[in-house]
Amino acid sequence: MIQAQDLTKVYQMGDSEVHALNGASFTIDEGEMVAIMGPSGSGKSTLMSIIGCLDVPTSGKYELDGLAVENMGESQLAEIRGRKIGFVFQQFNLLARTSALENVMLPLTYAGFSGKEREERARKALERVGLGDRTHHAPNELSGGQQQRVAIARALVNEPSILLADEPTGALDSKTGVEIMELFQSLHKDGGQTVILVTHDTFVARHANRIIRLSDGKIVSDEINQNPIKAGTPRTEE
Ligand SMILES: Nc1ncnc2c1ncn2[C@@H]1O[C@H](COP(=O)(O)OP(=O)(O)O)[C@@H](O)[C@H]1O
Ligand SMILES: [Mg+2]
Repeated sequence: MIQAQDLTKVYQMGDSEVHALNGASFTIDEGEMVAIMGPSGSGKSTLMSIIGCLDVPTSGKYELDGLAVENMGESQLAEIRGRKIGFVFQQFNLLARTSALENVMLPLTYAGFSGKEREERARKALERVGLGDRTHHAPNELSGGQQQRVAIARALVNEPSILLADEPTGALDSKTGVEIMELFQSLHKDGGQTVILVTHDTFVARHANRIIRLSDGKIVSDEINQNPIKAGTPRTEE
């Protein structure tokens, strides 16, 4: 599903260059659940924005579902994002004073669905994340964990092939963060959803089936996690 070869990303900062990615190569198959770890500044978000077609690499090849993405322009990238990618962010990024249902309906606005269809799909997505009874609550009437669930429903409503989450538990307390990871696990197990997430929390990462570690823009390890942490397991250190 994803084939990345020798990805580099260089940001121009005035007269100096920042090498955010230094030749990252990997493949990710459909249905995997992958955690990307690494210290701050190691290139995790840069990598996620390339995987998610928000940006293109400076050099290297990136193929998504057989499409060569590395030379695409903004309108083609936007089209691929809308069809294939669901994004979840650390800070939820929900519209305030707007109900959960309307927040989740937003990505369907330009997809050519009738109002009724949009509402039905959004309702289903909210049910999938366990918020079928909170459709009319605004973000400030929901807990942090519930807000992140709304954001996950919004990411799922287009039925994307890949769900990308950059530090999805970073703004949550550790118990709520683990509940969000259990939700990703169930979307992955029950729906076969491909999930790629960034975290710097080892316990969070160990919920995934594969852990990729980045350092200075390079992949320093890429391991299958034989025993992903199961729902209800108490937090342990390493
Ligand atoms: N838009 C940008 N312009 C310039 N430098 C950037 C930009 N985005 C990220 N960087 C730099 O690239 C490096 C990697 O950043 P990032 O991918 O955000 O790392 P991480 O998510 O692992 O903390 C850092 O040195 C960061 O300062
Ligand atoms: Mg980051």
